[in-house]
Amino acid sequence: MNLVNSDVKTPKAISAFSKESALCALESIKYPAVIKPTIGSWGRLVALLHDKDAARAVLEDREQMYPLYHIFYLEEFINRPPRDIRAIVIGNEVVAAIYRYSSEGDWKTNMALGGRAEKCPITNELEDLCLKATKAVGGMIVGVDLMESREQGLMVHEVNNTTEFKNTVKTTEIDIPGLMVDYLSQLGK
Ligand SMILES: Nc1ncnc2c1ncn2[C@@H]1O[C@H](COP(=O)(O)OP(=O)(O)O)[C@@H](O)[C@H]1O
Ligand SMILES: [Mg+2]
Repeated sequence: MNLVNSDVKTPKAISAFSKESALCALESIKYPAVIKPTIGSWGRLVALLHDKDAARAVLEDREQMYPLYHIFYLEEFINRPPRDIRAIVIGNEVVAAIYRYSSEGDWKTNMALGGRAEKCPITNELEDLCLKATKAVGGMIVGVDLMESREQGLMVHEVNNTTEFKNTVKTTEIDIPGLMVDYLSQLGK
C-alpha cells in the first residue's frame, strides 16, 4: 500500500541517484522544486530549488556529503498558504491537529524553525485523509503532515513515526501522551 493507491493526494515526487538524473527529473517536476533528505526531521536539509543553477549548486554540495545524501528526493513545490497542518493519529482516531505557520521570512513551517501553532479543526475530510494515510503505512501512532494546495486541495506530504507532540498538546490541550499510553495498554488485551 502507498499513499497514491490509498486515494491520498501527495506532492509529485521523483528519486534520483546522480546529479545528472536529478537535473533531468527536475525538468519534469518544474521549478521551483523541493529537495529533501530521505531521513530527517525539523526541516533540516529540506531546500527550495528556485532554478537549475540553484539545483546544480545544492546537488553538488550533497555529493560531498555522506552517501545517504546522494539519494536525491525531489518534490514539486506546493502553492499553499504560509502554513501546514500536523495531525496526530492514535489507532483509528485523529486526536488533535494544529496549523503550523512559518516564521517571518521562512517558507518551512516546522516548529523547530520557530513556526507558530494554532488549533486546527478536525474536519471529516482531514480525518478521512489522515486515517487513510496512517493505514497506508501500517501506522499505529503517527503525526501526519498535510498541505492545503491552492490547486489540488488537501494533500499529505509526510507521515511521521515517533512524532513530536509538545506544541500540539500546548495548543489543543489534548493529553496526547495519556491517550498514547491508554491506546498501548489496551492493545495486548
Ligand atoms: N512540496 C512542498 N511544497 C511546499 N512546502 C513544502 C513541501 N514539502 C515540505 N514543505 C515545507 O517544508 C517543511 C518540512 O518538510 P517535511 O517534508 O515535513 O520534512 P521534515 O521531516 O523535516 O519535517 C514542511 O513542514 C512544509 O512547511
Ligand atoms: Mg514534517
